[in-house]
Amino acid sequence: MQSWIPFIPESASTESANVDALYFYLSGVTVFFTLLIAGVIIFFVVRYRRRSPFEIPRPIAGSHALETLWSIIPLVIAMSIFVWGAGQYFRNSRPPKNAMEVYVVGKQWMWKFQHSTGQREINELHVPVGRKVKLIMASEDVIHDVYIPAFRIKADVVPGKYTTEWFEATKPGRYHLFCAEYCGMNHSLMGGYVVVMEPTEFDNWLAGNAGQQSAATSGQQLFQTLGCASCHGNNGEGGRGPALLGVFNSNVQLATGQTVRGDESYIRESILNPQAKLVSGYGPIMPTFQGVVTEEQIVQLLAYVKSLGATPTGAAGAPGAQGNAKPPVQERVK
Ligand code: CUA
Repeated sequence: MQSWIPFIPESASTESANVDALYFYLSGVTVFFTLLIAGVIIFFVVRYRRRSPFEIPRPIAGSHALETLWSIIPLVIAMSIFVWGAGQYFRNSRPPKNAMEVYVVGKQWMWKFQHSTGQREINELHVPVGRKVKLIMASEDVIHDVYIPAFRIKADVVPGKYTTEWFEATKPGRYHLFCAEYCGMNHSLMGGYVVVMEPTEFDNWLAGNAGQQSAATSGQQLFQTLGCASCHGNNGEGGRGPALLGVFNSNVQLATGQTVRGDESYIRESILNPQAKLVSGYGPIMPTFQGVVTEEQIVQLLAYVKSLGATPTGAAGAPGAQGNAKPPVQERVK
């Protein structure tokens, strides 16, 4: 469906109307002053043209009132743009706490999505309408960028860290998703669709794609097969390595005396470059897993660490218990 203004994409998220309003305000201010300045120039050219070859203009001493006016008005306009723009920026860049999380891995040249319940997709993302969705994004190679025009969101996906963006879709439909950062030969083909569904429809879709184990469960298996458990304990309770229980989003005391937040990027860094931020009381004994695990596997390990609450989770299967009754099958993406 086309919007009534050409070139404006469909508006399908809670923030898109706000972004449009700001955009129209900026456009309005620009058009107004362009016309005003052009009009005044033309008017002055005619009104104050030289009428005789010997005409000498009347000297002007200046006007404090006028100068104050043309300082205050632009200041007010510039500040209104700043306050409005900053507010919108903060709303867009701070994902709500209760958002449903989807992991996104970009690589030349495709998008891979993994739901926290385990469903995986390529170049297509199914989400329910009216629900906040947070994308946790990583790149396997170069910088990409997830751009969903209908939701008015756009964020770089940068190798070596996690970036996030979020949206809440307001109407069901199929919305284009683009890579918006030049990433090589097939950059222009790197895209896909976000499919927004009614909640019940979405639940059916999830159920129809069940049988794929949750990201946390895959991560738990990796945790065992990679030997993480030998130092961090079978259930992350700790040993030669620091405990992982409850570490996510907690404050981690480092050997240097500093404290860091145990967020996604910290956990990722600790897997790939364990010596970068040693936990207080532990030696530099952990090997790097750079090149050993893929970006998707890191996402799964991360999901596992996130699933480890402050209390021991006990036997296997507890983390990410949603719809995981079937025996674990090594899933393959289509
Ligand atoms: Cu990925 Cu452009």
